[in-house]
Amino acid sequence: MAKTVHSSDRVDVGFVVLTSLVAAVGGLLFGYDTAVISGAIGFMQQLFHLTPFMQGWTVSSLIVGAIIGAACSGFLSDRFGRKRILMLSAILFSLGAIASATAGSVTWFTIARIVGGIGVGIASTLSPLYISEIAPFRHRGRLVSLYQLAVVIGISAIYFVDAGVASLGGTEWDIHTGWRWMFGLGLVPGIVFLVLLAFVPESPRWLLKQGHESQAFYILLRVNGSTQAKRELDDIKQAIATETGRLRQLFRPGFRRALWVGVILSIFQQVTGINAVMYYAPEIFKQTGAGQNASLIQTILVGAVNLLFTLVALWLIDRVGRKVLLLVGSGCMTICLIVVGFAFHTGHIQGYLVLIFILLFVASFAMSLGPVVWVVISEIFPTHIRGRATAIASLALWAADYLVSQTFPVLLTGIGAALTFWVFAVMSVLTFLFTIGVVPETKEKTLEQIEQLWSRG
Ligand code: BGC
Repeated sequence: MAKTVHSSDRVDVGFVVLTSLVAAVGGLLFGYDTAVISGAIGFMQQLFHLTPFMQGWTVSSLIVGAIIGAACSGFLSDRFGRKRILMLSAILFSLGAIASATAGSVTWFTIARIVGGIGVGIASTLSPLYISEIAPFRHRGRLVSLYQLAVVIGISAIYFVDAGVASLGGTEWDIHTGWRWMFGLGLVPGIVFLVLLAFVPESPRWLLKQGHESQAFYILLRVNGSTQAKRELDDIKQAIATETGRLRQLFRPGFRRALWVGVILSIFQQVTGINAVMYYAPEIFKQTGAGQNASLIQTILVGAVNLLFTLVALWLIDRVGRKVLLLVGSGCMTICLIVVGFAFHTGHIQGYLVLIFILLFVASFAMSLGPVVWVVISEIFPTHIRGRATAIASLALWAADYLVSQTFPVLLTGIGAALTFWVFAVMSVLTFLFTIGVVPETKEKTLEQIEQLWSRG
């Protein structure tokens, strides 16, 4: 990269948006990999004669990989840089795609999914973190939310990939070969991600932490223009000088609160039931009379609502702030969950009321907890340990995701659908209260100003 230093205050908007978009492709892989199995599992079931346990393990092995990936992403990226480890995630994702497609047995398949999952776990932690470290502070919320937008696009697009592949041959072909293509095509976004990453710069904050001041300044200059770049360079240097770089720093009174905010918000994002609702939606939609096309209608409606309201969040997050979105979102999610619970309780599941409230629930999540949690966990920790700290929060998120997907079917048969949705409603109320009481507003603050916020206690 040529090191011509401009002294103007001109911000290179194209550079910032492109860099953020590249990192957001990590979200696309996340969406692709979590959703691809839904179109394939039926055929795999017939080929491998899976027991219910093995069926569960076939689906959830990816999440186990993601937990491992999230856990490793922190120290690896603090040590070797964000860019290199994001590239590693693209490689793992691609290897996982090839290995899943060619697996000869379920055991090999689940190992392949764990490998791909490690890539997903790394990308899910580092994509938002990288964007947050490079973005101009006034647009950070919006740019990091691009990552969530990519997740949603990945989830929606894969339905059409799966359906397209399945339509290429007859049932026999689908059972023996079709599902392999669904996974194998994951190689395309994996390689695209790897190639694009080669063209983006390393995070300026990580570079500065490593002592590469002129390289860091050059990137800050392109992103912020000269006045703000100089200011940020000084602030970052000052902030780094006061950091010990040890994880122990996180357990000191000020930063301990940051850790709580990150971990608990991450858990709330999952235990309020988004993935259970996404998973259960086809059943509810069938009961509203959608019949055989239920899953198609569900995917299109849920996908469209999810996408639309993520765009709403993108528009609002740097204007009204993270806190307002979280409060409005968790408040609306509570109401929707209570209503859906009542519909199950009274047995009035038919009709469009439930459908509307399920969609409203997805909309409320998409404009709040969906993007905001990823934004918050990528911006609230000090630079030296940001990788490791964000990874702890992301690990909590994936573990909670695993817990919900494993216990949801058990809860349904154990305590019934009504109570299950009310449990999610209680969690949404707790999210609301936690946000009012503990979560600080971070809009329009540089990462270094947020860092000072905690030390002030
Ligand atoms: C969550 C995922 C969820 C997705 C739905 C993400 O923010 O982390 O678990 O499936 O949103 O859009």
